[in-house]
Amino acid sequence: MQKLAIQGGNRLNGEVRISGAKNAALPIMCAGLLTAGELHLDNMPDLHDVATMRKLLVQMGVTAAVESGALTLCGAKVDKLEAPYDMVKTMRAAILVLGPLVARFGEARVSLPGGCAIGSRPVDLHIKGLQAMGAEIRIEHGYIHAQVPQGMRAKRLQGTRIFFDLVSVTGTENLMMAAALADGVTVLENAAREPEVVDLAHCLIAMGAKIEGAGSDTISITGVEKLHGASHRIMPDRIESGTFLVAAAAAGGDITLSDARADILENVLEKLQEAGATIKTAGNTINLKMNKRPKAVNVRTSPYPAFPTDMQAQFMAMNTIAEGSAMVVETIFENRFMHVQELRRLGAQIDVEGNTAVIKGCTQLEGATIMATDLRASACLVIAGLVAQGETIVDRIYHLDRGYEHIEAKLSALGAQIRRMK
Ligand code: EPZ
Repeated sequence: MQKLAIQGGNRLNGEVRISGAKNAALPIMCAGLLTAGELHLDNMPDLHDVATMRKLLVQMGVTAAVESGALTLCGAKVDKLEAPYDMVKTMRAAILVLGPLVARFGEARVSLPGGCAIGSRPVDLHIKGLQAMGAEIRIEHGYIHAQVPQGMRAKRLQGTRIFFDLVSVTGTENLMMAAALADGVTVLENAAREPEVVDLAHCLIAMGAKIEGAGSDTISITGVEKLHGASHRIMPDRIESGTFLVAAAAAGGDITLSDARADILENVLEKLQEAGATIKTAGNTINLKMNKRPKAVNVRTSPYPAFPTDMQAQFMAMNTIAEGSAMVVETIFENRFMHVQELRRLGAQIDVEGNTAVIKGCTQLEGATIMATDLRASACLVIAGLVAQGETIVDRIYHLDRGYEHIEAKLSALGAQIRRMK
């Protein structure tokens, strides 16, 4: 089990290049199943989840050519329409092969994702949407068996109107990919507006899909017979960007993000300015200066463009040493406060009541040994380690490697005292 050892107290100064977005790369890799053509992807992040997704696609018969920062997929020889439990259990995003497989091959067997640390995270909306498009779906022995009935015209899914009871990012992505090859028009209502959904739509349109409204809560997809290969550059990771900015706001310093996008981080940038940081954006750079103790800021998570749930834990870390008290309300996941008890071990003063945490800022955290529980919680603990006095050891950092490319190298380059221990 790998750990990170962090000596707290250093300010962060310098430049850091933001990697391609994990949550855009994962659905876009699955789009490779929709065509026999070649899908060439640039700005690919070097992440554990990306490697897992690549292995999942290759075991289905997709060919994958990896170069540094790039990936070329070809779905010409897909011969296995299954996502096995041992691969799905480590990465929920594997559910994103379901829509493409049913749309192009008329059937799929995908393991139900196990629950995960941050909540039960069902996939009922994915299943309901495919059923609305004509797929017959039964759940057996922990697997989703989906089939387009023989009677359906050319065994294709049928376009229809789908209303999401809840905003679901991968639900929207799965059904948008399925609709791209369906017979007729599909309208997704109450669709997710996340930038990663828009990036997937741009890639699908480059492959010949007819999609309007991506980025709004109503997306209209006119199905086509076939999709062809394309080239696409993965968008920058807005959560990695936000994580580095919060780290600098908490530790103090002057950092510049390059290959970043400010337009998809407005809510986070506003909160950082409220905390007292000075933010300057120009082209694809974001600069943050912080030379005083941050002020505590309230956050309430909600679907895009509101405050992202994937930034909640990071802001809580900053609030533990901020001036004043703040409320953090988590409305998306039912169990996304696992980082609280770990922060308390560093001396943080946090009270939790249901989905609301009240954090009373203290002047100093004390380093200790703590344990990462999920991806964004582990980033929160790293930020806390950067500001705690003395040494903090963060255990189980495989969570971190799922979603942050070479984070300790990037933080060390900014002046943090951080090293990986076997
Ligand atoms: C995506 O997860 C992201 N993952 C998550 O990022 C992110 O936290 C989440 O969206 C919310 O923004 C990827 O894009 C790979 P949802 P997803 O479907 O799609 C409920 C990270 O740290 N729901 O938008 O799985 C669900 O339980 C990860 O990078 C249903 O009830 O999330 C949750 O409460 C963590 N039924 C809410 O909706 C469904 O069929 C939002 O979930 C689907 C979802």
